Amino acid sequence: MNVLVIGSGGREHALGWRLAQSSAVSCVYYAPGNGGTAEGKCRNVSLLQFRDIAQFITAEHIGMTVVGPEAPLVNGLVDFLYQHGCKRVFGPTQKAAQLEADKFFSYGLMSRLSIPQAMAKMCYSLDEAFTVIRNHPTEQVVIKARGLTGGKGVVVCDSKAQALSEMVAHAATYGPEVLIAERLSGEEFSVFGISDGERVLPLKLSVQDHKRLLDGDTGPNTGGMGAYCPAPVAPSSMVQSIADSVMTPLVQQMKADGIVYKGFLYAGMMLTAAGPKVLEFNVRFGDPECQAAMMMVTNLAEVIASALDGHLQPLDCRPGAACCVVLASSGYPGPFKKGLPITGIIETESVKVFHAGTRAEHGLLSTDGGRVLGVTAYSPQGIASARAQAYDAASSISIPGGFHYRTDIASRALRKVRY
Ligand code: AMP
Ligand code: GLY
Repeated sequence: MNVLVIGSGGREHALGWRLAQSSAVSCVYYAPGNGGTAEGKCRNVSLLQFRDIAQFITAEHIGMTVVGPEAPLVNGLVDFLYQHGCKRVFGPTQKAAQLEADKFFSYGLMSRLSIPQAMAKMCYSLDEAFTVIRNHPTEQVVIKARGLTGGKGVVVCDSKAQALSEMVAHAATYGPEVLIAERLSGEEFSVFGISDGERVLPLKLSVQDHKRLLDGDTGPNTGGMGAYCPAPVAPSSMVQSIADSVMTPLVQQMKADGIVYKGFLYAGMMLTAAGPKVLEFNVRFGDPECQAAMMMVTNLAEVIASALDGHLQPLDCRPGAACCVVLASSGYPGPFKKGLPITGIIETESVKVFHAGTRAEHGLLSTDGGRVLGVTAYSPQGIASARAQAYDAASSISIPGGFHYRTDIASRALRKVRY
């Protein structure tokens, strides 16, 4: 079977790398891929238009297409491919992708199903948001933009006064439609599942992301500076129960509403004093959570095929732990230089360096984005060993002109449990 992976980031590199390890897969194409994806039985193809992608799938007899990022999903790539005769596409349709693209849609659906989440009110205008903030029962509130904001549309406020003043700038940037939510407290983790439209089977390991740029969870928010799994905060039993009590009912309700959800499903969770609550749903795998998760999963190609066939098989994981450390361009998430040479990448049986913002030309590798590499290690011995190997591999990489990585990925796990 030939496989096509849509996207160019570290998540897509990790998905394609794992898919390529299946004996059922003869070639993985990445559209468009990056400087590291064209390795082994994998090739990059520069397809950007929906029409070109559909033609390629037909011409190359692609048996499975996996869509990585949210943008093409939200823009209707899967619907377009279905309409053009490409049926073996793994990813939600545009309507199903509202779960991530429209926070009013997901809030409403969760409310109907009594899924534990932060209490919130949907506001359609600036005036309504002001009134809701003033009448909120507690001082601490969270402002959430209704639409997609690349993770930047959430403001967690310490007081109503702060929320009222933040609201003006927020509306100017993201529009006036917002959820005003109760501020929850607790440790965050992520749960990933695969849906065949009928039910969701989870990756039985919770994953923890590190969204802030700097050590100690300080500095600005980023797409994610590292991730590890499993996260001790949420054991497998909790992950399974979230899949059964939250994710499966959600896709079943969507199906009853006429929206079949096939694809990865990502629940951003917080473990509060009252138990786990959903912060958000995304309609894709997390990046860089995927890079850590793909070091653990052993049967991805078979499971995606089973989801496309409508008889979903469970994801198998090897024992142990994985840790991904993201190397980012200096300046990220603000402006940064591109085109700096990258040297010193060393991979071993247990270390894989997933590429994100890289470019390969005439055999030379250079930077081409904010998040450049995801140095990822697996160890059967657990997180301390996986983390040590990831940092060891990161320390040999050099990018003259500067790059940055956090030195405390997975340290929360080390403080908590030995496993
Ligand atoms: P979201 O895009 O909804 O996951 O929000 C981004 C980040 O904002 C989350 O990872 C949390 O750290 C924070 N956040 C979102 N909603 C809440 C909430 N209701 N209470 C506290 N923090 C929140
Ligand atoms: N790492 C967070 C995300 O993928 O949304």
